[in-house]
Amino acid sequence: MSKKILVLGATGEIGGRIARLAVDAGHQVCGVSRGLNHREQVDLTGVEMLIGDKSDETFVRDKLAKMDIDVLIDSVPNIKNIESYSKYLKQVKNFFFCSSTGTFVPLQYFPADEKHPWRDETAVNFYSQSVRDAYILELWKKEKFPGTIFRPTNIIGQGRVPLELWGARDIEFFRKLKRAETITIAPCEHIMVQSGYNWDLASAFVKAIDQPEAVRGEIFIISCKHAITLGQYLQTAIDFLGSKSNIEHCPAEKLKDIYPEVTMKFRMDFLLQPMCLDISKAEKTFGYAPTRTTQEGLIEALQWCKNTGLL
Ligand SMILES: NC(=O)c1ccc[n+]([C@@H]2O[C@H](COP(=O)([O-])OP(=O)(O)OC[C@H]3O[C@@H](n4cnc5c(N)ncnc54)[C@H](OP(=O)(O)O)[C@@H]3O)[C@@H](O)[C@H]2O)c1
Repeated sequence: MSKKILVLGATGEIGGRIARLAVDAGHQVCGVSRGLNHREQVDLTGVEMLIGDKSDETFVRDKLAKMDIDVLIDSVPNIKNIESYSKYLKQVKNFFFCSSTGTFVPLQYFPADEKHPWRDETAVNFYSQSVRDAYILELWKKEKFPGTIFRPTNIIGQGRVPLELWGARDIEFFRKLKRAETITIAPCEHIMVQSGYNWDLASAFVKAIDQPEAVRGEIFIISCKHAITLGQYLQTAIDFLGSKSNIEHCPAEKLKDIYPEVTMKFRMDFLLQPMCLDISKAEKTFGYAPTRTTQEGLIEALQWCKNTGLL
C-alpha cells in the first residue's frame, strides 16, 4: 500500500537511495536537505524535494508537522532532532533512524546480534550514537514513540571511496596499489570485516515500511550477509587493480611515522576490531535480502573511483 514517506537527508548516500527505492516501491516521497551536500547523488526523480534544516525546531513545527506523513526516515539523526519529532510529529506512525554497528564494539561474541551489549561507553564504540539510541528506546517504552533503529556496518558501493587498511577512506591507499608502490599496513589480515552495500542497506528501510507494527521499538543490524577477513578484502582490491605492490607490516601505532595522517583514535583502533554481525533478525522480520557480498561492494566502489577519475 502506498504511504507518505518523509526522508531527512535525501541527498545523502543512504538517504538518497532510500528515497529512490521508496518511490520505486510506489510510495509518495518527500525529501529534505539543507542543500549543502555537493557529493554525487542518485537520481531523485519522483521525490518532492524540500530545502530545510531538521535541527531548526520552527521548521519541524511549522512545516513538517503540517505534512501528512506516515513514515519519517532520518538518515543522520541526533537527540535534539528526536526530541522535536516526539514533540511536534505525533501523527507519524513510524520513525526510522539510521545508527551504526559501531555502537557494539568491541564485539564479545561472533556473529554479534541485536542482544549484544551496546549501552556502555567503551574505548572504541560510537558512544554518542549509543546514547541517542537508548533515548529512542526509552521514548518507546515511556510514550510509545514508534521509533526503529537500523544499524549498518561500514558502507560500501558506488558513490564513495571505500574503507582501506589504514582505517579510513583515503584514496591514496588504492592509488598506491594501482601504481604498484610498496604499502605498509598493520598486521591485520586475519581480522574480520563486514561491509554493508549502500543499495542493500537502503532497501532495508523501504522493506520495513511494510511491517509497521513488527519494527516499532526494535533495533536491526543491516549489512552484507557474511564477514570476510581484511586479508581477503585487500586481495580483492589487489586483484581488481591488477596490483603488483609489495605489502609490508609495522605495528599499528608506528604507521603514523610513515603516514602522518594514520592515527589510532576512531581510525586504526576501529579497523582492528573484528566485525562479524548477524543480520537474521532483519531477514526474518521484513525480508531483508542483501544482494552483494563485501567483495562485490568493494569492486563496485573501486570501479566507481575509476569511472570518476579518482583512481
Ligand atoms: N559511513 C559509514 O561507513 C557508516 C557506517 C555505519 C553507519 N553509518 C551511518 O549512516 C548514516 C550516513 O548516512 P549517509 O551516508 O546517507 O550520510 P551523508 O551521505 O553524509 O548524507 C547526509 C544527508 O543529511 C543531510 N543533512 C545533514 N544535516 C541536515 C540537517 N540538519 N537538516 C537536513 N538535512 C541534513 C545532508 O544534506 P545537507 O548537508 O545538504 O543538508 C545529506 O543529504 C549516518 O547516520 C551514519 O552514522 C555510516
